[in-house]
Amino acid sequence: MRVLASAPAKIILFGEHSVVYGKPAIAAAIDLRTYVWAEFNDSGAIKIEARDIRVPGLTVSFSEDEIYFESDYGRAAEVLSYVRQAIELVRDEADANGRGITVSITSQIPVGAGLGSSAAVAVATIGAVSKLLGLELTKEEIGKLGHRVELLVQGASSGIDPTVSAIGGFIHYEKGNFEHLPFMELPIVVGYTGSSGSTRELVAMVKQTREEMPDVIEPILAAMGRIVGRARDVLLSDLDEEVRFARLGRLMNINHGLLDALGVSTKKLSELVYAARTAGALGAKITGAGGGGCMYALAPEKQSEVATAITIAGGTPMITRISGEGLRVEEVLP
Ligand code: MEV
Repeated sequence: MRVLASAPAKIILFGEHSVVYGKPAIAAAIDLRTYVWAEFNDSGAIKIEARDIRVPGLTVSFSEDEIYFESDYGRAAEVLSYVRQAIELVRDEADANGRGITVSITSQIPVGAGLGSSAAVAVATIGAVSKLLGLELTKEEIGKLGHRVELLVQGASSGIDPTVSAIGGFIHYEKGNFEHLPFMELPIVVGYTGSSGSTRELVAMVKQTREEMPDVIEPILAAMGRIVGRARDVLLSDLDEEVRFARLGRLMNINHGLLDALGVSTKKLSELVYAARTAGALGAKITGAGGGGCMYALAPEKQSEVATAITIAGGTPMITRISGEGLRVEEVLP
């Protein structure tokens, strides 16, 4: 039997980092996907073939406690630890330890770009392997398992990335609970800096700063939480679209400033943010963990101008759509 599952990337619209400390956040799935094939093998080992996670040709096998890298390219190896944990968790859930499983991954999501590539690969793997092992899991349960994978690999995680990737659409997320917000098209442009940040390291850095000066950092995190509350009100309101976008844009700009204050922006991210605003975006901010990765801009009727400005500033623009769909089982072959 062979199973193919896919899961989408996400952008965090508001509330990254503060969400790790129990504040709410709003995120949406976007139409870039990771695809995972799963099948049994006779060796008893977990085998992972990463055909295209921006590191072509990498094959890694795990057996007992040993890891065999046919080639090792740093960040790809980090992605593979999500895959391995995902397979082990599902095998545990299905009481199928020792069962040999091969997964083969292809992805359209740039790794380390803040678009949730690790969560998407974990969710797609859980989806494919659980189906292979005959487990009936809801998307919500798959999102929760994805969160456990992140906690094992990263140490700290809010769980928002795997939840959005599993469920899809617009999600307001708070302490493990989520609410679907009404679906809408948002005229956004994502700008990729071309360099990647490590979510694990950035989350650890913010944690350390918060421990060193809680009196300074707590109010910043609290303000971020209030921004999310206001953004939710705007998204649920029946305000005129123009007013709605203008308000969201202002909230994005404030949220960006606060993320910069936490130290997760970079010169390049800020350059892309200012280039987008100068080209007419109503708002622009980091999306995801920062330290490189991506920003996004809200640019009604200005998407192509903003995309050009991002290119001139040295970034790669992606005009992307919100995806209403989360995890998808694409094919089950006998
Ligand atoms: C990463 O996409 C979002 C962070 O808030 C981490 C997390 O929520 O686990 C930086």
